[in-house]
Amino acid sequence: MDDPIHTRRIALPCLGLRVAAAALLLLSPAAVTPAASHNDHGEHKNFLVIVRTPYEYDKNLYKNVSSWHASLLSSVCDSAKETLAADPSAITRLIYSYRNVVNGFAARMTPEEVDKMSKMDWFDRALPEQTYHLLTTRTPQMLGLMGGRRPGDGLWNTSNMGEGVIIGILDDGIYAGHPSFDGAGMKPPPPKWKGRCDFNKTVCNNKLIGARSYFESAKWKWKGLRDPVLPISEGQHGTHTSSTAAGAFVPNASVFGNGLGTASGMAPRAHIAFYQVCYQEKGCDRDDILAAVDDAIEDGVDILSLSLGHEDAIDFSDDPVALGGYTAILNGVFICAAAGNTGPSPSTLVNEAPWLLTVGASTTDRRFLATVKLGSEDELDGESLNDPNTTMGEPCPLVRDLADGTCANENVLKAQNITGKIIVCEAGSAVSTAKAKMVKGIGAAGMILVTPEVFGPVLLPRPHALPTVQVSYAAGQKIKAYIQTTKGAAKATFVFKGTTLNTPQSPMVAPFSSRGPNRRSRGILKPDLLGPGVNIIAGVPSIEDVELAPKAEVPRFDIKSGTSMAAPHLTGIAALIKHAHPTWSPAAIKSALMTTAEPTDNQRKPISDVDGRPASFLATGAGHVNPQKAMDPGLVYNMTATGYVPYLCGLNYTDQKVNTIIYPEAPVSCANLSRLEQDDLNYPSITAILDQPPFTATANRSVTNVGAASSTYTVEVDVPASVKVEVNPTKLTFKELDEVLNYSVTIKSANDQAPTGPVEGQLKWVSGRYVVRSPILVTTGAGKDAPATRQP
Ligand SMILES: *[C@@H]1O[C@H](CO)[C@@H](O)[C@H](O)[C@H]1NC(C)=O
Ligand SMILES: *[C@@H]1O[C@H](CO)[C@@H](O)[C@H](O)[C@H]1NC(C)=O
Ligand SMILES: *[C@@H]1O[C@H](CO)[C@@H](O)[C@H](O)[C@H]1NC(C)=O
Ligand SMILES: *[C@@H]1O[C@H](CO)[C@@H](O)[C@H](O)[C@H]1NC(C)=O
Ligand SMILES: *[C@@H]1O[C@H](CO)[C@@H](O)[C@H](O)[C@H]1NC(C)=O
Ligand SMILES: *[C@@H]1O[C@H](CO)[C@@H](O)[C@H](O)[C@H]1NC(C)=O
Ligand SMILES: *[C@@H]1O[C@H](CO)[C@@H](O)[C@H](O)[C@H]1NC(C)=O
Ligand SMILES: *[C@@H]1O[C@H](CO)[C@@H](O)[C@H](O)[C@H]1NC(C)=O
Ligand SMILES: *[C@@H]1O[C@H](CO)[C@@H](O)[C@H](O)[C@H]1NC(C)=O
Ligand SMILES: *[C@@H]1O[C@H](CO)[C@@H](O)[C@H](O)[C@H]1NC(C)=O
Ligand SMILES: *[C@@H]1O[C@H](CO)[C@@H](O)[C@H](O)[C@H]1NC(C)=O
Repeated sequence: MDDPIHTRRIALPCLGLRVAAAALLLLSPAAVTPAASHNDHGEHKNFLVIVRTPYEYDKNLYKNVSSWHASLLSSVCDSAKETLAADPSAITRLIYSYRNVVNGFAARMTPEEVDKMSKMDWFDRALPEQTYHLLTTRTPQMLGLMGGRRPGDGLWNTSNMGEGVIIGILDDGIYAGHPSFDGAGMKPPPPKWKGRCDFNKTVCNNKLIGARSYFESAKWKWKGLRDPVLPISEGQHGTHTSSTAAGAFVPNASVFGNGLGTASGMAPRAHIAFYQVCYQEKGCDRDDILAAVDDAIEDGVDILSLSLGHEDAIDFSDDPVALGGYTAILNGVFICAAAGNTGPSPSTLVNEAPWLLTVGASTTDRRFLATVKLGSEDELDGESLNDPNTTMGEPCPLVRDLADGTCANENVLKAQNITGKIIVCEAGSAVSTAKAKMVKGIGAAGMILVTPEVFGPVLLPRPHALPTVQVSYAAGQKIKAYIQTTKGAAKATFVFKGTTLNTPQSPMVAPFSSRGPNRRSRGILKPDLLGPGVNIIAGVPSIEDVELAPKAEVPRFDIKSGTSMAAPHLTGIAALIKHAHPTWSPAAIKSALMTTAEPTDNQRKPISDVDGRPASFLATGAGHVNPQKAMDPGLVYNMTATGYVPYLCGLNYTDQKVNTIIYPEAPVSCANLSRLEQDDLNYPSITAILDQPPFTATANRSVTNVGAASSTYTVEVDVPASVKVEVNPTKLTFKELDEVLNYSVTIKSANDQAPTGPVEGQLKWVSGRYVVRSPILVTTGAGKDAPATRQP
């Protein structure tokens, strides 16, 4: 009798189907009962319920998946316990019924109901709610998209700017009226597009082809959430990421005259399908994220971009990015995710599953140069987003904040009388734009913002209410020393120099970009690679935290930094590759991006970290994306979705967990499969774990020829003397396209002991025309992998 498969009677007070509820919301937002009035006294909570895999929806018994899930839920919903009896129709216990991403549903239940449910034989797990977070125009030229010396060199030429490719973006909202989303000149979406536009009809066009909101789960947790059916104003982050991936050309874009130029996304002719899953100052609910991916896959997106993640590295079988991501690649949908913004400490990475492209952030070569000229004639370079035409005139008295240095205490500053002076403030917890307003309000002539030490030379300027120069920690120390020695006679002025390009040592790893090792699968190097993520100019609904002159035009571009900004760069570039190579699998596109990434900067030195030393592979992955080369990589490390199954078994996931991840693939039993060690996964980077005798690891790889039909590659290996590497064979001779050849790499310690410290090298397959590079990382054990924290 406990078997719900045969429990046909549906206990209505418990139910209300998401489909019906959603339709209601869309038609008439005013009719929505706010969460707080649902007579929900707090004992019901949101759960993601995973159903055991042998249990599948039976078409003969249930009309559809939601009616099946509803029946499972009703089998434990005890209506007697309902405090909702008075208003049964108002309660929606079934929040989401998933079709693609997991075998399960999201529902509101009491602890007693969960307990009762856990005794059902169809029950696998119930996960309590989880909150994820968003991780925050010259890049096309810098990345070589616009073409090189000869016409036709540009990647945009071969890829036709991503025409016809559909990019699905999960984020916090999109400002549909932005010029970056103008549909002029765009072709209609391909016929496979099944998505919808839940904005009012006038808003979507051939650029922004879809817009949907997911808040059925979030609304319970964030009471009073404004009805987000038209996610227009809540789009600071999502407008920026969407326009970075696929924004149209917008001439004369700048941030107060800085970075002036024609703005565009990486794939200006790709279509955007927007899925709102995050809410400003709140976050993104796991079950809403899952629902959006569930729909996006059916809508027909080609690529998914997720600039969000949990604070922790979540088990793949509990994580919506990993769960949704597997179903995405199973459907040939490429998925790109941000690596996290909690660097530079080690083991801070998120979104680690090998089927995702995990993107770290790097600096660009653009600076918004401004100089602090001290009375001593010393000049210290910094950056500023003040209008470069601003002039300061005569030097002003220069003072420090006499409180804690962060200019947080207005009364102290007032007592100090900073009228007509330049004030030095350390970056503190308060938003710098708020500080600027405050110090301007009490008469300051200018502000110098000192960046935290951990940022090294990397500065993140913002537009401010008064002339402001942001300087590095090192420059800040010099300024403070000068103030000290002049004993009250210190003076300074600012010189705004505007935008400069070709900054040496670019790209550099962003200080905040999260670092490996991979906490969930240490045999897979993450991040996969770096993309531009520092001071990125892209579209916004309006500039945040900045007061504009009464009649000023609302600026439509702003600067943001984060791995959130790096991921959509890769999303757009993946769209270009997808256009040029429509039959390539997600793994092949990822391989193309990784094996052609640049390990060196614009001075041909290894990409450096903010301390000036070469960055670890745990920060850079394969290196910095080179879109032009990624279009034509020569060889790719291909994978099918099912190829990850023996790997999951090798990670010692239980059958239930493996089956949760691979759903809707047929269930497997690991006992029936050969387990794959992590180093044998056909991944474009190589990680050898040498933590026990005999300190030897062998990694097998298969490469597919996508370059010249008849071609010969020879191997080149470059590793430190502490390890020895043997590759077998050392030559690969291809006779035709799509031919697959295998090789194995044996990596052993040179002295039969665990190598000390991280060992990094590379393996390259080289033909006349191609270089196919894989980074090699040798680690010596859990925990011991991490290099010394690189806090300068
Ligand atoms: C699923 O079936 C239920 C009734 O069993 C119905 O109310 C609901 O609209 C159906 N949903 C879909 C998506 O067809
Ligand atoms: C693109 O390449 C084709 C041929 O390779 C060339 O004729 C055309 O001018 C190029 N277009 C641009 C915009 O460079
Ligand atoms: C549709 O949305 C746009 C953008 O917010 C707005 O300007 C317009 O008035 C709306 N139209 C209708 C019919 O609601
Ligand atoms: C861009 O700005 C310049 C100078 O302000 C102006 O001459 C030009 O017409 C503008 N271009 C467009 C397309 O608005
Ligand atoms: C700055 O000054 C130059 C030359 O006077 C002018 O062309 C430009 O439009 C000004 N820029 C801004 C943002 O006002
Ligand atoms: C503050 O300093 C300014 C400029 O030196 C001076 O004009 C003003 O009188 C001072 N205010 C107070 C309250 O001392
Ligand atoms: C990679 O594997 C997939 C799945 O087997 C296949 O469809 C594709 O043609 C292969 N090659 C490339 C370059 O994607
Ligand atoms: C899986 O379990 C086996 C046997 O206990 C062990 O040897 C292996 O190291 C485990 N693998 C991982 C990735 O933890
Ligand atoms: C595993 O193999 C056993 C014995 O061959 C078979 O009975 C079982 O159905 C298999 N399980 C799966 C999930 O394939
Ligand atoms: C790796 O390749 C070697 C031969 O190249 C083979 O003997 C071995 O079984 C392979 N290992 C796996 C896990 O495929
Ligand atoms: C290459 O390795 C795969 C397994 O990784 C195997 O199925 C295939 O037969 C191998 N191909 C050759 C030519 O050895």
